[in-house]
Amino acid sequence: MVNNKPIGIFDSGYGGLTVFRSIFKQLPEYDYIYIGDTARAPYGNRSFQTIHQYTWECVQWLFKQGCPLVILACNTASAKALRNIQQIDLKNEDPARRVLGVIRPTAEVIGNYTQTKEIGVLGTKGTVQSGSYRMEIGNFFPDIKVHQQACPLWVPLIENGEYDKPGADYFVKQYLDQILAQSANIDTLLLGCTHYPLIEKKIKEYLPGNIQIVSQGDIVAHSLVDYLQRHPEMEQSISRNKTQRFFTTTDDTEDFDHYAELFFSSPVKSGYAEIKC
Ligand code: DGL
Repeated sequence: MVNNKPIGIFDSGYGGLTVFRSIFKQLPEYDYIYIGDTARAPYGNRSFQTIHQYTWECVQWLFKQGCPLVILACNTASAKALRNIQQIDLKNEDPARRVLGVIRPTAEVIGNYTQTKEIGVLGTKGTVQSGSYRMEIGNFFPDIKVHQQACPLWVPLIENGEYDKPGADYFVKQYLDQILAQSANIDTLLLGCTHYPLIEKKIKEYLPGNIQIVSQGDIVAHSLVDYLQRHPEMEQSISRNKTQRFFTTTDDTEDFDHYAELFFSSPVKSGYAEIKC
């Protein structure tokens, strides 16, 4: 598409669509292109090196489609690949382009939600092990205590469409019990994985009523609005034809469309993106 300079949105699979949904609601005037690396998802248990390689390949693919700005709508990629991409890869590729993640904008505001100053972060193994949330939240809210729990089985349950079946309850309860056992003072639980909003209803069922759940979609969308206001040169370089295009790295695009609709809350018609490995 000539002259199309969309905002690129990346996730390992479907989860980033929960963020894209909020971004599109806030900023409907721009063009967007989404890629879910479903052929290689989940990323959560993969090594630092592999997550960086896969993420950078997808970001480069988005650059080839004309994106001046890419959002990593994936906590695992934000935790394990963003720093390298920002500090090394972009400088070699094209310093005018920008790649932003979801952890920093979340860390900037999460402290405003808690009264007890103790929060729980639920995420993939990769996100939790990276310690990114502890570090970033510590920068903005040094007096807040961050408890973390990896939930390695949640993404596979969600990606395979099992998240609303009775079998999922066991694993939802198991990880919630583990994080709540870390402290009785947790009053805020952050869904630090863009897939988890799909099981928010189930999470609520197993959570005491005094604990609030925070998901990232609206937080990241507000942060992007603010970023574009502060960077008019970037804002003006993005095209505005209100188009949304979706791509998956799995050649079965119909399967992607079926699940993507659940995450995006609107029908999705995707194309196949062949990422050369
Ligand atoms: N949606 C991704 C995140 O926010 C992770 C999914 C995965 O494990 O691939 O962390």
